[in-house]
Amino acid sequence: MTTLCHFLLFVFITSCFRIGNTIEVNDDQVTQVHVMNALPKDSAPLEIRCNSADANLDAKQLKSGYDYSWRVEEETATYFCEAFWGNKFASWHAFETPRDANQKRVFWLIKENGFFLGYDNSSWVEKSTWETE
Ligand SMILES: *[C@@H]1O[C@H](CO)[C@@H](O)[C@H](O)[C@H]1NC(C)=O
Repeated sequence: MTTLCHFLLFVFITSCFRIGNTIEVNDDQVTQVHVMNALPKDSAPLEIRCNSADANLDAKQLKSGYDYSWRVEEETATYFCEAFWGNKFASWHAFETPRDANQKRVFWLIKENGFFLGYDNSSWVEKSTWETE
């Protein structure tokens, strides 16, 4: 009887450890993507639409100075985004592997002169520009 109890206790404790480990590993891999509107104040509203194979994010209206962010749970995903601003539009990959897979945070700064990628929210590389119909 005592042996059975010990055995069950052992099984219970090891499964708790397994669950704990799994959560920890997943947490390590999560990337937070930020899209920030740095367009001139009082300019036309900016609309953003982002999708991946597994996730359809809602279309977002983003005011100047505001940040739209989401978590990428599947590190193999590609997030394709479109932006609309007045008569201008653009599309870009907000998250893609292997470029961003090991990053904790990915920042996009949307300005009048283009789309800038950064990983620390302070240094930026231009990746894309606006197009006009
Ligand atoms: C990014 O930097 C801007 C300007 O310094 C700041 O206002 C904003 O809160 C930062 N965002 C994050 C998510 O750290």
